[in-house]
Amino acid sequence: MKNHYHIPSPEAYTEACHQATKSPHDFWDTIARENFEWMKPWDTVLEYDLSIPEVTWFKGAKLNITVNCIDRHLATRGSKTALLFEPNDPSKPCEPISYQALYTRVCKMANVLKGKGIQKGDRVCLYLPMIPELAIAVLACARIGAVHSVVFAGFSSTALATRINDCDCKMVITSDGSYRGAKTIDLKSIVDAALLDCKGVETVLIVQRIASEITLVAHRDYWMEPLLALASEVCAPEIMDAEDPLFILYTSGSTGKPKGMVHTTAGYMVYSAFSFQNVFQYQEQDVYWCTADIGWVTGHSYIVYGPLANGATSLMFEGVPTYPDAGRFWEVIAKHKVNQFYTAPTAIRALAKESLALVEKHDLSSLKVLGTVGEPINEEAWHWYDDHIGKNNAPIVDTWWQTETGGIMITSLPGITKAIPTYATKAMPGIRLALMDDTGQELTHPKAQGKLCISYPWPSMARSIYGNHKRYKETYFSAFKNFYFTGDGALRDADGNYRITGRVDDVIIVSGHNLGTAPIEDAINQHPLVAESAVVGFPHHIKGTALYGYVSLKNAAGKNEDELRLEINDIISLEIGPIAKLNKIQFTQGLPKTRSGKIMRRILRKIAQKEIDNLGDISTLLNPEVVQHIINNAL
Ligand code: WTA
Repeated sequence: MKNHYHIPSPEAYTEACHQATKSPHDFWDTIARENFEWMKPWDTVLEYDLSIPEVTWFKGAKLNITVNCIDRHLATRGSKTALLFEPNDPSKPCEPISYQALYTRVCKMANVLKGKGIQKGDRVCLYLPMIPELAIAVLACARIGAVHSVVFAGFSSTALATRINDCDCKMVITSDGSYRGAKTIDLKSIVDAALLDCKGVETVLIVQRIASEITLVAHRDYWMEPLLALASEVCAPEIMDAEDPLFILYTSGSTGKPKGMVHTTAGYMVYSAFSFQNVFQYQEQDVYWCTADIGWVTGHSYIVYGPLANGATSLMFEGVPTYPDAGRFWEVIAKHKVNQFYTAPTAIRALAKESLALVEKHDLSSLKVLGTVGEPINEEAWHWYDDHIGKNNAPIVDTWWQTETGGIMITSLPGITKAIPTYATKAMPGIRLALMDDTGQELTHPKAQGKLCISYPWPSMARSIYGNHKRYKETYFSAFKNFYFTGDGALRDADGNYRITGRVDDVIIVSGHNLGTAPIEDAINQHPLVAESAVVGFPHHIKGTALYGYVSLKNAAGKNEDELRLEINDIISLEIGPIAKLNKIQFTQGLPKTRSGKIMRRILRKIAQKEIDNLGDISTLLNPEVVQHIINNAL
């Protein structure tokens, strides 16, 4: 099978951009028709009305994404490795899973789900470590039309329960535990705690990973393996409508509970596959490795769906970059002769701090493309990656996108368009970017800085927030009429290259993970001694941005501040997960407020960033004395 959507040259890129702008319907129509298997073709390529907003791609088409990711490869690539599993412990064997084996394992698991009553449209929560069963469970759901909701297995039981209840999951698939470096984590007991608050879950399937003693709840909990052993190896793919939901994935919002972004089938498939091929310039014999967890969108689009739709070999890594030592990534690249490597700036910064000997003892000459995602990459980290990992011979793609966009929106194409350190550079063909000023006007001058928007639908855009279309409209389509607003700021140079400057809302990106300030503050405020709190970001040498909490106490007489800090972080861990813990906690007498009572986070942000000479306009500040006190005691 040949990919007709491959963009192999600068000329082809220019031509694709031209075509996609001039006649987007024809552009996507050709790509969809020539590169995928459909059970029924579409009636129209795209219908949309961004004022509702409603977007329909490939209306009337019927398909199953797993046929495109697995079945159609069997004739030509049956014995090719689809997933290459590298376990946490390097002394344990790695496990190559061929397309043929993947087919069988997905069908078997799909039949197990059916046997437990899961039907098309039902939501299934996957709370699993990075083991093959996670990818297989994703595909098994898609096989039968169930909607998967993968929850990152580092989230706490409370966060898990919120996500299970929000989309009414009927089933949870988990494991007895997980390995993370030298530690094991008892996932099943986290699930048990979550399920005390989740009445809708009928079945829990448990994959055995760490062979720990667990308690099975009668008529609810079942080990996966014995069920798989009995399951049939054939499972006909469910016939799905182009716009049937494929998955829900939660992302943090600036306010309130997490947003369950709903992605649908056909458009997501077309765009994740198209972007994978072109951003990584994948060739048939290549081994591709994305280090993300499938609990994040990067893992959905660029470990599972995008690579498999292209018949690629996708490496799946269970462990952490620092176990058994901080050379593990480089060791794995050398061991499997990885050709494309895709990771996060936070990992690059952390590993750049380690001895270069850990890099140099491994042969990295197989690398052809390096990628980054999740947060801005600083210049120093970019050059370290380029010099020491790519040896100035593997172009870096700095890929900007979001859970909401489903696929990479801004990037260079390796060897085809120019990479510029700290710039994500240019839009993918068919993606129309816009910068807006604060009055809602589009900035049309080439060189500009403003709020980043997208002005035309693309196939993999999220269609809604589960159960709350109103919030979807308000969050993404209300700031600027007829534009999708990303929540990010960006600047554009005279040549049309984009550089992301960071979030312009109350979402903070810590180590590449989106965290909303509101849920963290809610957690802090649960402490009985806390009156109120505000969380902001500040620059951090490894995490990119870390969290600074300002906490005003009710009456803390006699309380040890360090003990309080531990207690507050414990609550955050419990409510959200360890990723949301605060790096700094400053106790204050009060928080700076406007006359209308709104916390002035801008000021707190400046203090946390040590920019106290430039606090900006403080004329609306109700309580200047509080600010002085906070400055005097800043950490
Ligand atoms: C940030 C991750 C700068 C950005 C795929 C975005 C980036 C948010 C980049 C989405 C990048 C992602 N350069 N910032 N290359 N990639 N971001 O939903 O703020 O987990 O809005 O999706 O991460 O994070 P999410």
